[in-house]
Amino acid sequence: MGLVEEIQKRRTFGIISHPDAGKTTLTEKLLLFGGAIQTAGAVKSNKIDRHATSDFMEIEKQRGISVATSVMGFDYRDMKINLLDTPGHQDFAEDTYRTLTAVDSVVMVIDCVKGVEIQTEKLMEVCRMRATPVISFINKLDREGRDPYDLLDEIEEKLDIKVLPLSWPIGMGKTFQGVYNLYSKKLVLFESNKQKLADEHIEITDLSDPELEKWVGESAAEQLREDVELIEGVYPEFDPEEYMAGKLAPVFFGSAVNNFGVQELLDCFVDIAPQPKPRSTEEREVEPEENKFTGFVFKIHANLDPKHRNRIAFVRVCSGKFARGSNYLHVRHDKKFRFSNATAFMAQQKETIDEAWPGDIVGLYDTGNLKIGDTLTEGEKGLFKGIPSFSPEIFREVVNLDAMKTKQMDKGLSQLMDEGLAQLFTFELGSRKVVGVVGMLQFEVMQHRLKNEYNATVRFDPINLFKACWISSKDEKALDAFVKDKYRHIARDKEGKLVFMAESRAWMQMVQDNFPDIEFHFVSEF
Ligand code: G4P
Repeated sequence: MGLVEEIQKRRTFGIISHPDAGKTTLTEKLLLFGGAIQTAGAVKSNKIDRHATSDFMEIEKQRGISVATSVMGFDYRDMKINLLDTPGHQDFAEDTYRTLTAVDSVVMVIDCVKGVEIQTEKLMEVCRMRATPVISFINKLDREGRDPYDLLDEIEEKLDIKVLPLSWPIGMGKTFQGVYNLYSKKLVLFESNKQKLADEHIEITDLSDPELEKWVGESAAEQLREDVELIEGVYPEFDPEEYMAGKLAPVFFGSAVNNFGVQELLDCFVDIAPQPKPRSTEEREVEPEENKFTGFVFKIHANLDPKHRNRIAFVRVCSGKFARGSNYLHVRHDKKFRFSNATAFMAQQKETIDEAWPGDIVGLYDTGNLKIGDTLTEGEKGLFKGIPSFSPEIFREVVNLDAMKTKQMDKGLSQLMDEGLAQLFTFELGSRKVVGVVGMLQFEVMQHRLKNEYNATVRFDPINLFKACWISSKDEKALDAFVKDKYRHIARDKEGKLVFMAESRAWMQMVQDNFPDIEFHFVSEF
């Protein structure tokens, strides 16, 4: 098979949701369909249990498991599907954001009882930044949930995306009978059964067919006809281009735990979801069909074996063919590296692979040369754009407790930052080091790993900070003047970029008002 065919059969996506909406359950069912796992419960172990978050060792254990399930590849209907796992735990939200840079589309799970929740809103913002196509799966229809019209309205309103139901529920909770698939014009009857694999489909292309009454009863049939008439009147026909542009989210209803509606979702996904898309570098757009290999690192998983300090870098192939054992240019280092031990991920196994194609994820064993955002090419020098860091809101000052181990601490901190665990800011004045994170859990993880992997002992002291934001200005003099004026509050991030460290929201606002020539950025890419 040639490059073009390999690209056409690939679908690389991620599932996003607020914790508990059913992401793990849905993942598992998709893998069952793809034949990648045989038993339910196999994926569950990947989930970091919210209730066990104070238990650090538990997290370490989970981290070990999660490397195998970071990327789950499976085949379905002649397609090669790559499902990228996104950690559900909110303290690892940055990891999720970065993973989303490596997918071509997402499936968003929403709990029909709870509706759109905060984490979904945040994740959707990231999708919107990159115009990622989204399909929505409204889950847990076996429970008494909210009115489906309300749910659709809420998605449109809170997530700022148009919706189009492609299936419609018949009843809900106790009265839930199934869905009518508007996409394939089939009635799918619900049966509460966690073990079954496929749903029973009844072909009803014309809803006025009296057969409908036979299956769902008179009142439900009447209601469904009314609903479908209304939907068809209100919502325009499915426009694939709008979906591809990330402006329209097709919506499916189902119950993941009962394996209901999952196949509908998967079938439609395979039909409409995008194949690997072009990716931008600083200079140009790279088409997947280009013959030369390019790829970028979006995730690093370290500490596979603490004795050897090795780690796995996850690389998304963007164009051409990746061949194991070839020399590739590490653009940031301007140096060629040979990767002889590339790994692919099939469900829960890792296997050595000889080649990979656009849309695929390869795992490269690394001893510290690669970091998040790095580009690999066959010689071209451009760097891929788009692995942003977000302005953190939780800060601690790093206090070194063992002066003899300063070097180790610096190295450890630097490597942990490469993995994207947190962000390090160094104040211009006095070189104080401050770490900013998305979730408190990160401090515990860092402290533990600095001790165990680098033999450095640190303490994280509270520091009065509200936000760190990157600054720039079209007027260089204005920027210089600002840095001088606010020198006590200026730091550098790991790349040396200027950062303003604001102590409070009100003060931040005042500074913004007083310095109109300075741009304050809340994402590191601007
Ligand atoms: P997450 O990864 O998004 O955090 O959610 P997860 O799949 O773990 O699902 C959260 C809970 O919701 C689980 O229950 C799961 O069984 C349940 N669930 C998922 N899909 C459905 C559904 O369609 N209907 C209903 N009623 N429940 C659903 P749990 O009690 O936390 O775990 P478990 O003991 O059932 O495994």
